Amino acid sequence: MYHFYDQYCVEQAAKSRLRALPQVDLPVSLDFSSNDYLGLATHPDVVNAAIEAARQCGAGSTGSRLLSGNYSLIESFERQIAQSKHTEAALIFSSGYQANMTVLASLLSQRVLPAAPIVFFDRLNHSSLYNAMFLSGAEYVLFERNDMADLRRQLQKYRVASRPAFIVTETVHGMEADLLPIADVVDIAASYNCFLYLDEAHATGLYGPQGYGLSTTVDLSPVPHMVMGTFSKAIGGAGAYIACNTIMQQFMLNRTAGFIYSTAPSPMSVAAAAKAWSMVPALAAQRQQVFAMADLLRQLLRARGITVMGDGTNIVPVCLGDESDTLALKKVLLEEGMMVSAIRPPTVPTGTSRLRIAINALHDSDSVNQLAQAIVQHLSRPATRG
Ligand SMILES: Cc1ncc(COP(=O)(O)O)c(C=O)c1O
Repeated sequence: MYHFYDQYCVEQAAKSRLRALPQVDLPVSLDFSSNDYLGLATHPDVVNAAIEAARQCGAGSTGSRLLSGNYSLIESFERQIAQSKHTEAALIFSSGYQANMTVLASLLSQRVLPAAPIVFFDRLNHSSLYNAMFLSGAEYVLFERNDMADLRRQLQKYRVASRPAFIVTETVHGMEADLLPIADVVDIAASYNCFLYLDEAHATGLYGPQGYGLSTTVDLSPVPHMVMGTFSKAIGGAGAYIACNTIMQQFMLNRTAGFIYSTAPSPMSVAAAAKAWSMVPALAAQRQQVFAMADLLRQLLRARGITVMGDGTNIVPVCLGDESDTLALKKVLLEEGMMVSAIRPPTVPTGTSRLRIAINALHDSDSVNQLAQAIVQHLSRPATRG
């Protein structure tokens, strides 16, 4: 049987798409690939919170939240998240992938809803959202990323009153580097009587008056909704939350299999995330710096005719289109001590391979200038273009 799996990898290799773990001890002086946008993963207070939690509560949570794995630290953090997100309740998961997969699948369950649901689904949604939808077996209609006219068109065409309808999208896109027109989406969800499921993985920590995400900039009360976010990016840790009302919290405790049958997150990761979360409102200067540096990089590259996607986010995608050009540029930058991510299909659509540059609070104008110069230099050399 192994040969089936080997054959798959051989085929991936033939298409130059075989994935492999990067070397761990690369001599990187500037890391533009990390999702630790605020530099909190190594903050001493965050690290100490994890150490203290391990001393007090142990390294592991010992069971599912519904059995032996509930503890006061996780409950108090959930109350804190609910307050920050202006919701009645919140529930914590061990990872963002787990949260999306299991929560969205349970939400779309045909054993719970009175009729088969229909999902209006952003074409560029994250793999965890796609897989949740596939797992649920729900019918879905794709709309173009951030295209509100297209969303309305699809709703006009396919929304029928007899079927529960859902809109699923991301507030900040981690690969396109754009912001959801969230107020418009809420209006549309209200007009078409849809449940709104928002993923704030890349917004948490960076947007909103206190840094708690784009969902805090609007009134979501006109529509039934759930807001997911992760601790794995700007919060610098691991795990995820769902912010919602108490009905949906109770529903998840009773129906969301990946919550019910999974061991609760470790007290260490919850304590680290809780500490980082509490620091977020005071990090306005870091947020400003991150956005200013991302703007600077965009300006420097665009001034040299390089195609850079997105605006207003700390993620700067440099679109090369061709997969091998993208890999080649990543490689030469690495040789100069600069780590960026090369993003290729199937993560992004064919023909849109790109370098994904993530600016974080540790970058300054010198580092951004160094990266921009290197990219400009290599892109103007025919050899790096294949
Ligand atoms: C939009 C989005 N949702 C969910 C996830 C999954 O989060 P996690 O890495 O915590 O599993 C990611 C992470 O890559 C993401 O970008």
